[in-house]
Amino acid sequence: PHAAPLDRLGRPLRDLRLSVIDACNFRCPYCMPADRIPDDHGLDAASRLDFDEIETLVRGFVRLGTRKLRLTGGEPLLRKGLPDLVRRLAAIDGIEDLALTTNGSLLAKHAQALREAGLHRLTVSLDALDPALFSQLSGGRGRIDDVLAGLDAARDAGFDRIKLNCVVQRGVNEPQVLPLVQFARDRGHVLRFIEYMDVGTCNGWRREGVVPSAELRDRIAAQWPLRALDPQYRGEVASRYAFVDGGGEIGFVSSVSAPFCGDCHRARISADGTLYTCLFASEGRNLRAAARQGEDAVVAQVAATWTRRADRYSEIRGEAGASRRHVEMYLVGG
Ligand code: GTP
Ligand code: 5AD
Ligand code: SF4
Ligand code: SF4
Repeated sequence: PHAAPLDRLGRPLRDLRLSVIDACNFRCPYCMPADRIPDDHGLDAASRLDFDEIETLVRGFVRLGTRKLRLTGGEPLLRKGLPDLVRRLAAIDGIEDLALTTNGSLLAKHAQALREAGLHRLTVSLDALDPALFSQLSGGRGRIDDVLAGLDAARDAGFDRIKLNCVVQRGVNEPQVLPLVQFARDRGHVLRFIEYMDVGTCNGWRREGVVPSAELRDRIAAQWPLRALDPQYRGEVASRYAFVDGGGEIGFVSSVSAPFCGDCHRARISADGTLYTCLFASEGRNLRAAARQGEDAVVAQVAATWTRRADRYSEIRGEAGASRRHVEMYLVGG
C-alpha cells in the first residue's frame, strides 16, 4: 500500500538528504554566524542517529521510491567512522546515486577512504578563491589552501566531475564569480551558483543581498558564451549551461528568482533523526523510534507524513501564509 506515495501536490519522494552531524568547523555568516552559534555547538553522540538507525531509515526510504541519497552536515567529515557508514549505504540495492556535500577543509585526509567505501560523488562548497575573503566567509575558521588540497586529493582518489557550490552575495563575493568560473573550467569542475536564501533564522537575510541568477549568467556569458542544456531528469535543482567553446558546464540554483517547488522530490533528515519535508519547514517529525523498531515502522511513518505534504515555500515566500520560522541550515545541510 505504501509503494511510492505521492504528496498532496502529486510529488513522489525520490531524493533524501541526510545530515550525519550538526557540528561544523566553519562559521559561515549565512549559516552559523559565530556571534550566534557557540564554538562547541553540536549534539552529543547519544542524541545522534547511530549507523544502524541510519541504515534502517535509508532502507525504508528506498522502499518508498527514494533513489538519490546525499549525506550532509554541519560538516559531515567531522562524523567519526563516516567511511563505514558510506560502505553500508552504498551496498543498499536501490540507491543509484550516493553523494556528499562538504566544505572541503578535511577532504585531503578523508577522500581516499570515502572513495574506497563506495561514495559516488562529491560536492564542495567554495564561495571565494581569494585567501582573505575565503577566511572571512568561513567565519575566520577556514583556509583556502586546505580546500584546494582537498580537491586535489579527491581527484587523485578517483572522484571526477566534482561539483563546486558557490553562494553569491551582493557586495560580498561578486568579484569572485569570474575567477571561480576560470578555476572550474581549468580544473574540470562543475560549478553551480546558488542564490542566497532566507534559510534558518540567524543570517539576517535581505532580498537586496541576492544576486539573481539571470544577472550572473549574463555576466559570465559576456566572457564565455553559454548554451542552455536540457534537464537530465525531472526536478533537477540547477539549471545547466554548457560553455560554447567546450569548456564544460555550469549551473544556477535559483530558489529565490525562479522557485522549483513544483518538482521538489526531496526530504531531509537531521542528525537527530527528524524528518523535514521542506528546507524551510518550521517543524519536523522525529523518526528515531521508528528506526529502532525497523523498516516497516519507518515506511509507515514516512508515508503518512509524505502523503500530507503540501510544502512550496519558495513559491510563496513573502506571502501571508508563509512561515517565518525555519529549520536551521546547519541541521539539514542545504
Ligand atoms: P545534484 O543534482 O545531485 O548534484 O544535487 P543538487 O542539485 O541537489 O545540488 P546540491 O545538493 O549541491 O544543492 C545545492 C544547493 O541548492 C543546496 O545546498 C541548497 O542550498 C539548494 N537546494 C537544494 N535543494 C533545494 C530545495 O529543495 N529547495 C531549495 N530552496 N534549495 C535547495
Ligand atoms: N543560502 C544559500 N545557500 C546556503 N548554504 C548555506 N546557507 C545558505 C544560504 N543562506 C549552502 C552552503 C553549501 C550548502 C550546504 O548550502 O554554501 O553549499
Ligand atoms: Fe558549516 Fe556548511 Fe554551514 Fe558553512 S555552510 S557553517 S561549512 S555547515
Ligand atoms: Fe522543495 Fe521547500 Fe525547496 Fe520548495 S522551498 S523546492 S518545497 S525544499
